[in-house]
Amino acid sequence: MDISVIGAGYVGLVTGVCLAEFGHRVELIDINPDRIRLLQNGVSPIFEPGIEPMIVRNTESKRLWFSTTLDGPRLNQCDVIFIAVSTPASSTGDADLSYLFNAVDQLIPILSSRTTEYPAVIAIKSTVPVGTNQLVQDRFNTAGLTDKAIVVSNPEFLREGAAISDCINPDRIVIGASCPEGFQRMKNIYHSYIARKIPILEVSLFAAEHIKYASNAFLATKISFINELALLCESTHTDVLEVARGMGLDPRIGPSFLAPGPGFGGSCFPKDIRALGAVGACNGLQMKMIESVEAINHRQKQHVITQIQDRIAGIKSPVIAVLGVAFKANTDDMRDAPSLDILPPLLKRGIRIAAYDPEAESNAKLIFGDTVQFKSSPLETATGAHLLLILTEWNEFFDIDLYSVKRVMEGNLIVDTRRVIDPNVAAAAGFNYYGIGRA
Ligand code: NAD
Ligand code: UGA
Repeated sequence: MDISVIGAGYVGLVTGVCLAEFGHRVELIDINPDRIRLLQNGVSPIFEPGIEPMIVRNTESKRLWFSTTLDGPRLNQCDVIFIAVSTPASSTGDADLSYLFNAVDQLIPILSSRTTEYPAVIAIKSTVPVGTNQLVQDRFNTAGLTDKAIVVSNPEFLREGAAISDCINPDRIVIGASCPEGFQRMKNIYHSYIARKIPILEVSLFAAEHIKYASNAFLATKISFINELALLCESTHTDVLEVARGMGLDPRIGPSFLAPGPGFGGSCFPKDIRALGAVGACNGLQMKMIESVEAINHRQKQHVITQIQDRIAGIKSPVIAVLGVAFKANTDDMRDAPSLDILPPLLKRGIRIAAYDPEAESNAKLIFGDTVQFKSSPLETATGAHLLLILTEWNEFFDIDLYSVKRVMEGNLIVDTRRVIDPNVAAAAGFNYYGIGRA
């Protein structure tokens, strides 16, 4: 089938590449010319494991191509036009829908001249608050496109760092629509999922929008739950990892999203829980659970800052070596990364910071400038430092040679917010170790 995807970011790019892999003809459109130039040269503008060979393979097979402009004639032949533009938090916490409506407004004059016998399906992949898809449909209807544009909600559940496998093998596909043709066209696109018996949920537009926010909010709630428990475990001389394991073996609870950390970050959980809270406020409902999840997440980052400050209090001109600045492992994404909240107060106190991240360095430099000194290896980062701070759980940090690290450091402190280091090995190497959720 013929597909266009508007927005070639983390979601649009992965979606477009996977749809091409399934055999569809896909045009990916983005207003960012640098992004499109890289893609045309077979280079991924984002770090996402496994994506680059797929870009190259599908481009060579002529099933995938890239553009900075909406190609009217092609869009008018398209079966489905996906919109995957960003919906960041506005200053009030609501989702900022300006990118979405700009894209819709660009489509209106093009679809006006559509001559195919069947309407275009506009599938909104962006995460949008309840009622937004109907507003988009109303906008098309007001422009006289009732018979030419059918809006469908098709929220995305992929995780960065595992996006390709999540997209090829999703847990479920959610389709929100208000007419049979909307559902049918999407099922034609997703034939490969149906063949593999991946559950396809056909729900209302409103339910599809709610499912997306509710899923993210629930996952964020699990993380805040375990993070709060981690602080309690620290006071009660218990290891939260033992507690999480014991809880997770109950299939009603499950083991995932019970890893304590420095607080959740990323491009979605923080903004989506705020947006859900804003929808509640709009409807006269105080979202008390959501407020607590956000407050606990804030407290978690403050707790990490306090742990660091307490440990370096007596050191003259302290230096901290940071391992990992991305919001989680396997991504170069710095959006709402805990490092952005944890490092600035330390820098403000005159503490020198060196950092290493295998993939997020260039994005991080755009934010930190030269206030943080980026190094090319953990060992180089640790050299001369008093405290080693682990903020991201990159695989390479699990097997770090602590004896070599200790030799190059000035001090012997470790603050491990991801529990990647074995406390016994740390002690044997001469470190004073603190791991989150452990006395
Ligand atoms: P992103 O910022 O990485 O990508 C958005 C892209 O859209 C950018 O490249 C931007 O240049 C482009 N764009 C903006 N306006 C455009 C226009 N009018 N025409 C063409 N291109 C345009 O965002 P993302 O992380 O991919 O997220 C997109 C949406 O998907 C958001 O609503 C987000 O909440 C949701 N989502 C994200 C993830 C994730 O893991 N990142 C997962 C699920 C859902
Ligand atoms: C999350 C969801 O998992 C996806 O299903 C969803 O599609 C996406 O948001 C979105 O809507 O954008 P993502 O943000 O890529 O995906 O990453 P996660 O793996 O969910 O991690 C989010 C944050 O929670 C990270 O900071 C991570 O370190 C933290 N986390 C996660 C924990 O602290 N503990 C855990 O047990 C799990």
